[in-house]
Amino acid sequence: MKILNIGSCNIDYVYALDHIVVPGETENSTRMDVFAGGKGLNQSIAAAQAGGEVYHAGCVGNDAELLTDTLKAAGVDISFLQTVEAKNGCAIIQVSRTGENAIFLHAGSNAMVDRLLIDRVLSAFSAGDLLLLQNEISNVPYIVERAHQKGLRILFNPSPINEQIGAVDLKKLDYLILNEREVQALADSNHPDEALEILRQAHPTLGIVLTLGEKGCLFARGDQILFQSSFLVDAVDTTAAGDTFTGYFAAGLAREEDMGSVLRTATAAAAIAVSRHGAAPSIPPREEVLHTLPTLQARCVSNRAEQQRSEIERYFAAHLQDASLSGLAARLGYSTVYTGARVSDLMGDTFTALLQKKRCAAAAKMLRESDLSVAEIIRAVGYENETFFRKTFKALYGANPLAYRKRQIG
Ligand code: RIB
Repeated sequence: MKILNIGSCNIDYVYALDHIVVPGETENSTRMDVFAGGKGLNQSIAAAQAGGEVYHAGCVGNDAELLTDTLKAAGVDISFLQTVEAKNGCAIIQVSRTGENAIFLHAGSNAMVDRLLIDRVLSAFSAGDLLLLQNEISNVPYIVERAHQKGLRILFNPSPINEQIGAVDLKKLDYLILNEREVQALADSNHPDEALEILRQAHPTLGIVLTLGEKGCLFARGDQILFQSSFLVDAVDTTAAGDTFTGYFAAGLAREEDMGSVLRTATAAAAIAVSRHGAAPSIPPREEVLHTLPTLQARCVSNRAEQQRSEIERYFAAHLQDASLSGLAARLGYSTVYTGARVSDLMGDTFTALLQKKRCAAAAKMLRESDLSVAEIIRAVGYENETFFRKTFKALYGANPLAYRKRQIG
């Protein structure tokens, strides 16, 4: 299956700094490199490095040899890349000592992708081909419309998020790859998990990949949820990690691999990319990824659900007396509504039922192991209403507290 990427090309000016500069500050860089980049170009290269048959379409300015040579060297077909009278798109990238980056862009030729070019390009592709798309060029909503009409499968990476995204019809997409900030903006929510849930419910057939940086990634489509942890590497430059992931993901889809293996390979490729400098030059070939993969160590030993389960357990252990749904929500960083749903989903009980079980279990332990009176125990585990405690305890342990103590002590 062919992969068509209508996307940006940028010249990246990369400055190595101690830290990202703050307003009013001037800092000397320790190194400066010029690389081929742009989310579109990086993703085309990643998809080609991953073994895909990739066609890159878009616009470049007159002095674009660095960009075209880099694409060609990776085996990307550039016959749909148009040269226009404009400056090339470019990016000023600061990379800190810890590998974080901050980027600002000038769209240049990337803003000259027009409907004529789009229609010409799309006429060479047909139903079932995969369209890969980011948000660094003009006319993205139009591309989605036309590609959908033609029956192309569409994988959209809405990055960077800007006002153009609002005009994209998400119903016409097949896959969406986005990070935590982007999912929040798209779903208009303050928390990424909640935002993912909103999108998942609104678009049950859409395959959504939420990338979580060093925490790994989640894939959700309807009722299917998969988690892939990230791999431990020494990060020197995170630029294009997301692009590497997306390009590999596209190639895995085009090869119709199973989703678990697509996520694993894409995550490994991104891990290798962050251990190197630059955007496009940091993207590893598939052979290297497959060879290195068995030696990589997962960063998170348990999956996200496990982590959240133990976080909930820890909360109850520390807040038996004053536990509240809003307290747990604040600890997890979710809304109370979402926290309630998450607790039921992960623990198999509502928050209130779980709290009663925890309090009664603590009371039962005290009844067995201490001489405290029932009134003292009731206070210690956080009950205000004695009748309610006795009723709940009896329902869970089949006896009132004193009968239970007598039975246990013999
Ligand atoms: O995702 C990394 C890319 O973002 C860089 O190559 C830069 O050009 C910007 O588009």
